[in-house]
Amino acid sequence: MNGKIAFIPGDGIGPEVAAPAAAVLDAAGALFGHVFHRAELPAGGRAVDETGVPLPPETLEEAKRCDAVFLGAVGGPKWDDLPVNLRPERALLDIRRELGVFVNLRPVSLAAPLRSVCPLKDEILSAGGPGGKPVFDFLIVRELTGGIYFGARGRSEDGSSAWDTESYSRPEIERVLEAAYAAAAERRKKVCVVDKANVLESSRLWRETALRMSGSCPGIETSFLYVDNAAMQLIRAPGSFDVIVTSNMFGDILSDEASALTGSIGMLPSASLAGVPGRRPGPARPLMGIYEPIHGSAPDIAGKDIANPLGAVLSAAMMLRYSFGLEKEAAAVEAAVNSVLEKGYRTADISGRGGKERLAGTREMGEAVVQALEEQA
Ligand code: IPM
Ligand code: MG
Repeated sequence: MNGKIAFIPGDGIGPEVAAPAAAVLDAAGALFGHVFHRAELPAGGRAVDETGVPLPPETLEEAKRCDAVFLGAVGGPKWDDLPVNLRPERALLDIRRELGVFVNLRPVSLAAPLRSVCPLKDEILSAGGPGGKPVFDFLIVRELTGGIYFGARGRSEDGSSAWDTESYSRPEIERVLEAAYAAAAERRKKVCVVDKANVLESSRLWRETALRMSGSCPGIETSFLYVDNAAMQLIRAPGSFDVIVTSNMFGDILSDEASALTGSIGMLPSASLAGVPGRRPGPARPLMGIYEPIHGSAPDIAGKDIANPLGAVLSAAMMLRYSFGLEKEAAAVEAAVNSVLEKGYRTADISGRGGKERLAGTREMGEAVVQALEEQA
């Protein structure tokens, strides 16, 4: 296969973690006989410096011509004082909306070799988990192009009051729920809808829509949690979750919380998709997606070769799976990541300073993954 990737390294540690992800894609291509062309494009703070806007029209046009987008991270203190429409984060929001990637998949699991960096006690980890094992493995399905992030907002004339609006239509909710149910069907068959239906009307529409949809998905157990309770249950019994589906802002908050359970936010990948995987009508066409680690640009550690590139590498694996339909290749990358963790390679953020560990920089970690991938051939 011949794929074309819009490659946006971004700011801060973005370029550092993007480089290993690119190397892993090249290695997977070489091993399995694919070519992935990368068009490197500016967005975020770098684009503000170079072109005056966070998402240059050329970047967007080129991204639309590609099969998938890879994004490192954007933002940094240098651009913090810019008006909101010129901030680097605007690039993320605009590219998500323009590419119509309405569903964001954030898998959260605890790799067995990282048990020692998970802050939870064994008895908590075992609670409600599959087979009572001290592990968890769940998927956050976050709505990505609606809700309060994109609703009407403003300020009163004298500037003394301000508003943002949470608003959802039934079709917007349905397509995200559909993605959640499709994912649950391939997993442990449980969907937990997270909302604030005891207060918010938009949440009541979520609940109503989910209740209706659950009737047509009989093999899947549907449950509901208020977001405050969900935040607590993630800490008390992370093993009890399979698929969590929720709105844009709740998903943003819960996914950062969840990442802390895995030891480091640097481990977590994400895929933002313009459709429901596996449910596309007609011949399989590439499903447009934006793939990015969920961490930010971490300016405090940028340029030091210490950032964890695994979230970025695992995002590249998700790209292989969802945008290119290359399941075997995606699984090989994930196995390679697992194998380097088993061998003891650790970036500083996931180091428990145990005896068998080998502290690695960003570059060395990336090279270890490429090597592990090649060893599988
Ligand atoms: C994320 C980030 C973004 C979001 C920010 C940078 C706009 O926190 O992808 O989770 O809130 O969606
Ligand atoms: Mg976030």
